[in-house]
Amino acid sequence: MKISAQKEFYGTFAIPGDKSITHRAIMFNAAAKGVAVVTNALLGEDCLSTIRCMRALGAQISVSDNKIFIQGSPCFHDADCDCGNSGTTMRLLMGLVSGRNVRVTFTGDSSLSSRPMERVAAPLRSLGADVRTTDGKAPVRIVPASLVGKEVCTHVASAQVKSAILLAGLGAEGETRVIEPLKSRDHTERMLSAMGADIRVEGNAVSIRKGELHCVNVDVPADISSAAYFMALGALCGETLCKNVGINPTRTGILKVFDAMNVRYCLENEHSVCGEPVADIRVFRSEISPVHLTREIMPSLIDEIPVIAVLCAFSRGESLIEGAEELRVKESDRIASTAEMINSLGGECVSREDGFIIRGKGTLRGGSVPSYCDHRIAMSGAVALTASEFGGEINGAECVNISFPGFYTLLNGNGGTVC
Ligand code: S3P
Repeated sequence: MKISAQKEFYGTFAIPGDKSITHRAIMFNAAAKGVAVVTNALLGEDCLSTIRCMRALGAQISVSDNKIFIQGSPCFHDADCDCGNSGTTMRLLMGLVSGRNVRVTFTGDSSLSSRPMERVAAPLRSLGADVRTTDGKAPVRIVPASLVGKEVCTHVASAQVKSAILLAGLGAEGETRVIEPLKSRDHTERMLSAMGADIRVEGNAVSIRKGELHCVNVDVPADISSAAYFMALGALCGETLCKNVGINPTRTGILKVFDAMNVRYCLENEHSVCGEPVADIRVFRSEISPVHLTREIMPSLIDEIPVIAVLCAFSRGESLIEGAEELRVKESDRIASTAEMINSLGGECVSREDGFIIRGKGTLRGGSVPSYCDHRIAMSGAVALTASEFGGEINGAECVNISFPGFYTLLNGNGGTVC
């Protein structure tokens, strides 16, 4: 896919629905009593994997436009679940089916099959689940076992791990309590509470008791992780407005980074949709300063680090990103792939075990970069090329369909006006 340099980039953008919230709205309603409609859903490949798996487990799900109609099935069938590229699908479902008296095998594509699954399997086993990984990875097999709630401290601040334990806790006797080292995104807690679960949050600890879920309609806000590409283009090349973006405080680390980098932005039309805070985010062309990011902020912007690294490359001066070793186990090794992408476009990025040093030169030359079959690398590369001197090409560009179908159409069709 060729990406042209665009020195001026202005527009108002309708960003697709939040991936994390769409996964949960499908999964939890499909496991609940009743019927529900999910509107403004993201129909990217990852969420389609969740639909496929929940159908295999017994729910009836139909899709029309960007609405998903769900008839829940609290009793699951034995199933083979192909999770595609989606870590959220596999990890959350491992928890959801444990203790439900079913035999389920989870498989995924080559990227997902190389990602760690013991981080979920081990805590589930501590509740009594019978979870068998393949050398710590997929395929993962779950067989019937009775679960008993207990307190579990997780080693990584991961919403996927936390959510898997909470979902298993719905089927465990007594109370299950998860304590995280840092607070990760809390969409699971909010949605389970709206669906009638007995769930309590105290700081970084969440407790849940055995219980049933009741279907709720969900209107999904736009995904701040997807908006981030157009927000970055506003800061680099003009002005952008992204509408109805979820600004849940566990997801807005990028706005704190904008403050630290002197990126000018404002939030408009703040309101709440289905228990999630939402706003329009307007970003203006800015003189971008380098930044130093440390471990504490990582859970709130982990998926945005590749595009933040691109912004650092366009600043003038040295940025340091540390405490980000989780990036090594995403859809690609994002420390390696981000550094290679920036270097091959003419920037200077040195990778470290837990992050990068980026020596910003105020610009990038452009050139040709692979996507590493990673949607977030492809879109960060596309932002870098759009703001670069000469533009260039992304090879393997179609992987953006994992989280952002229509990304290139929005990028190429920027309207020249901001409402
Ligand atoms: C997600 C949590 C994050 C994030 C992923 C989606 C979720 O992963 O990187 O894209 O929906 O819970 P971790 O929880 O493993 O950090």
